[in-house]
Amino acid sequence: MTSLKLGIAGLGHVGCGLVDLVQKQESLRLPGKVEIAGVTARNRNRNRPVSTDQYEWFDDATRLAEDDSINVFVELIGGSDGPAKVAVETALKSGKAVITANKALIAMHGQELAELARENGVDLLFEASVAGGVPVVRVLRDSLAGVEVKRVTGILNGTCNFLASEMLASRRPYDVVLAEAQRLGYAEADPTLDVSGMDAAHKAAILAAIAFSADLDFSKVAVRGVDGVELLDLDLADRLGLRIKLIAEGKITKDDEVVCRVEPLAMPTGHPLARVNGSLNMVRVEGEPLGAVTLTGPGAGPGPTASAVMGDVAKLFNPIARPAFGRAEHHGIRKFVFADTDERSAFFLRVRLADRAGALAELTEALAESGVSVDKLLQDSADENGAAPVAIVTHTCSRREMNDASERVRELESSVGQPQIMAIEDSTD
Ligand SMILES: NC(=O)c1ccc[n+]([C@@H]2O[C@H](COP(=O)([O-])OP(=O)(O)OC[C@H]3O[C@@H](n4cnc5c(N)ncnc54)[C@H](OP(=O)(O)O)[C@@H]3O)[C@@H](O)[C@H]2O)c1
Repeated sequence: MTSLKLGIAGLGHVGCGLVDLVQKQESLRLPGKVEIAGVTARNRNRNRPVSTDQYEWFDDATRLAEDDSINVFVELIGGSDGPAKVAVETALKSGKAVITANKALIAMHGQELAELARENGVDLLFEASVAGGVPVVRVLRDSLAGVEVKRVTGILNGTCNFLASEMLASRRPYDVVLAEAQRLGYAEADPTLDVSGMDAAHKAAILAAIAFSADLDFSKVAVRGVDGVELLDLDLADRLGLRIKLIAEGKITKDDEVVCRVEPLAMPTGHPLARVNGSLNMVRVEGEPLGAVTLTGPGAGPGPTASAVMGDVAKLFNPIARPAFGRAEHHGIRKFVFADTDERSAFFLRVRLADRAGALAELTEALAESGVSVDKLLQDSADENGAAPVAIVTHTCSRREMNDASERVRELESSVGQPQIMAIEDSTD
């Protein structure tokens, strides 16, 4: 398709996130232009964070799904059955490509919908249905097509992960942390789908079906949630060097069948999945001859989820040859430049100083003259050549100030060899 006209059904968190992205598409890297030809939701007059008045309104999702003004139907209503399913079926039968973020729909009816899409020669894309903004469906389906996958594991529900990490960190029981998560918007008013493990199970089933080329059969997915996990369990496990996490898993049995399950697992604190805290999602794919690949990022939220939907939109453009770097004719041209020396960070500085009185004072004075102050300092004993290694963590300063300081340090009589300087990456996210 060279011109995409979206019909967006559902103007909630994700729907409005998508409208916002369409409205600022100049800053994205889409291969062509995207228009919104029609929208629908339950209540036309609801106050929404984006303006939708300029788009044609449809009272019924199914009417939008079959309307000739659209060629892509984007289903962002939710629910495994009901209006979402009927509208998606209608769109596919009317020859429209369908994009959905609806894991319940795909987990319960994905197989028959995929068949309907195939019969009608159209795409059914659902990147946003698993792990929100983490591009795991496409990576598993396309980029890892050359890998024989043995096992997929993941943390696929941010709410459960938040509950387990927050209970342990704050030493508070399940009910108290759940109430806080609801207040902060990390958990739904009705959290059953999340805490029962069902939401993670929907996503796990989708991943397993792709990873192992299996018929998706949700009735064979074993599900246990975090609702039975107590602070006592987390605490005792912690004292044994273990973290309890809600883990989704898909793997191949020795009889070449697929096992898919979601359950709380205890794992060593050094395990990559054990280190994922808060609302992040992580997926780990193990296979031959690859080894393992791990993807991590925000598993929910309007922005990340809408970006995954937009990734599917971009996939539907079908130019004869794709621009190798993804830049289409209509994109602005940006230039490479060297980084601005006003960029600020803390720095790690390592120097070797001749072992004599006053050397350390000279060093800190040289730094101060360039506007660089010391946050932490560590001095080791002198080595066999009489030079004592000194490591410094500076307070935040600009690269210009640090470059200037390093020149001064190099010129110090007491400085032996080349100093080592590295910016310290901010670890706040
Ligand atoms: N939120 C996330 O972070 C996230 C992440 C990954 C996937 N998803 C999936 O994305 C989908 C949408 O989630 P959301 O969080 O955006 O939900 P939401 O905020 O509850 O929005 C749902 C939207 O659907 C509309 N709607 C309800 N019934 C409808 C009907 N019969 N016909 C047309 N529209 C109808 C609602 O209309 P009104 O606005 O008038 O009420 C609302 O705009 C779900 O499948 C969800 O599982 C969400």
